[in-house]
Amino acid sequence: MRLTKFKDTAAIVGQIGDEIQALVAQKTDAVICIAGGDTPLPVMKRLVDLKRNGSIDFSKVQFLGLDEWVGLGYDTKGSTRQTLYDNLYHPLAIPEAHIHFFQGDNANLQEEIDKTDAFVEQYGIDYMLLGIGMNGHIGFNEPGVGDDLMTHVIDLDTVTTTVMSKYFDDDLPLTQGMTLGFGQILQTKHLVLMATGEKKREIVKQTMASDMTRQIPSTILKKSVNETNFYVDAAAGELV
Ligand code: GLP
Repeated sequence: MRLTKFKDTAAIVGQIGDEIQALVAQKTDAVICIAGGDTPLPVMKRLVDLKRNGSIDFSKVQFLGLDEWVGLGYDTKGSTRQTLYDNLYHPLAIPEAHIHFFQGDNANLQEEIDKTDAFVEQYGIDYMLLGIGMNGHIGFNEPGVGDDLMTHVIDLDTVTTTVMSKYFDDDLPLTQGMTLGFGQILQTKHLVLMATGEKKREIVKQTMASDMTRQIPSTILKKSVNETNFYVDAAAGELV
């Protein structure tokens, strides 16, 4: 895992925008996976700007979802689906056929798992932008998770169910998440983990200081096939 400290969020966003621009210029039908949560929102805005000024052609790019709260669909503000559709896929005018995203409100979650696994098996993942949970979770790979799983449903950790209220207007009785597994994430060609702000300081430090352990899922990224780039701003990187 290679840690790079940037001055601020804007500098990280510039770097990631450049990386995605270079990737899509070279591979027009690249598969890109961007996490939900608050951290990647400025990156999504940057990608929309790059499209508007004609710097990236997303017409053949395929987008893959990373995770979703089980039970939620587009209609719930705070669902990962709504975050990605409203901030990225719709503004980029991505055709539905190029979007591969779990329906967290499907009564048959196995269908979602199967179609996601089949897609990743066929196309692989070229670029993935991850955020990190306060407990080190990656997507919804919560503490204790296996490091070789494919797409799966998992019980949410108590840290996650405590932090999650920031995404929702109401208290929602969410207990599970659906996520790509490390068996898929670790194979990604360009893997980027991003952390910004003071509240991520401690988990950034733990991730860098700790040997690989399932108790801190972010440390599992140390065994990615292609080295993980960990981009932090000055505030998140203060202890490393
Ligand atoms: C969320 C999501 C992750 C996200 C992480 C950090 O719960 N499951 O995909 O990366 O936690 O979120 P944030 O960027 O809002 O801090």
